Amino acid sequence: MTISGRPAAAPQAGNSGEIVVQGVGKDYGAGAFSKCVMRNCSFTIESGKLTVMIGPSGCGKSTLIRLLAGFERPTVGEIRIDGEIVTAPGKDRLVVFQESALFPWMTSMDNILYGPRARGEMGPNTREHAGFLLKKVGLEAFRDKYPSQLSGGMQRRAELARAMINNPKVMILDEPFRGLDAMSKELMWEYYAALFEESHRTNFFITTDIDEAIYLADRLIVMTNIPMRVRTVIDLELPRPRRLADIFDNEHANDVKMTVLSLLHEEAMKSFSGGSKAASDFVEAYARRTGKGATA
Ligand SMILES: Nc1ncnc2c1ncn2[C@@H]1O[C@H](COP(=O)(O)OP(=O)(O)O)[C@@H](O)[C@H]1O
Ligand SMILES: [Mg+2]
Repeated sequence: MTISGRPAAAPQAGNSGEIVVQGVGKDYGAGAFSKCVMRNCSFTIESGKLTVMIGPSGCGKSTLIRLLAGFERPTVGEIRIDGEIVTAPGKDRLVVFQESALFPWMTSMDNILYGPRARGEMGPNTREHAGFLLKKVGLEAFRDKYPSQLSGGMQRRAELARAMINNPKVMILDEPFRGLDAMSKELMWEYYAALFEESHRTNFFITTDIDEAIYLADRLIVMTNIPMRVRTVIDLELPRPRRLADIFDNEHANDVKMTVLSLLHEEAMKSFSGGSKAASDFVEAYARRTGKGATA
């Protein structure tokens, strides 16, 4: 995971970090060479909630993150954070990407303290707060270890702590746990959910993993295939703090899972005719799971 964006003041209580995406479209190139990645995309990321977006690979999710972060501008439509139109990167948003950005020459503790140090914002309690965050992500015993001495999952947890210490109003995460093995992933979900439940900071989390999406989400936004728009929005009525066992035994969670799988299957089928390899794999896996035919 890499982390970008600058830190903000502590999130204010109440309506803080609400993001409204209104009629957003994004085209790359011009004329005969133009490509429409996103069309008429509208949704709200509510303040203090964990909103998860799920969509097929290549549908335009990372493109949307670049727009939310302010690295790029929409071709049409607008994105507002607490009413202000996003025109550039801002200290209110912090983006955590999948690629690791821990400095290999720094210990876990020093990596986490990097943001406050770089800004000259080391206060009397900053080190203690870093220690608290290390404990929260299960790395208390690894505070003096270097990234090469940590497992892949531990490195991601250190990244989360490193992001949290900057205290942004909104945390935006683009498939941060992709590539981890199943057991490490489940552990990550629990640590990440606990961090969210502790702060109730506005979080926007992108994934292609249905179990991850359902375990984490307050609100789940299912996207279409490219050109991307919102296919459906589902509010999950699941208790917090969340426990994995509760989710997998829960009828509501299972209903949502089948609904979302079926929608993603439909979206994959659309690009199947176009010869997409990812779509082909998904359709085959879905057919095995549900016993439905793999051809439309
Ligand atoms: N700068 C760009 N120019 C042209 N096409 C782009 C550019 N950036 C992304 N795309 C296209 O946008 C589509 C969506 O990519 P991306 O947002 O990375 O999808 P996802 O994150 O959902 O997998 C891809 O087909 C990609 O080729
Ligand atoms: Mg992506």
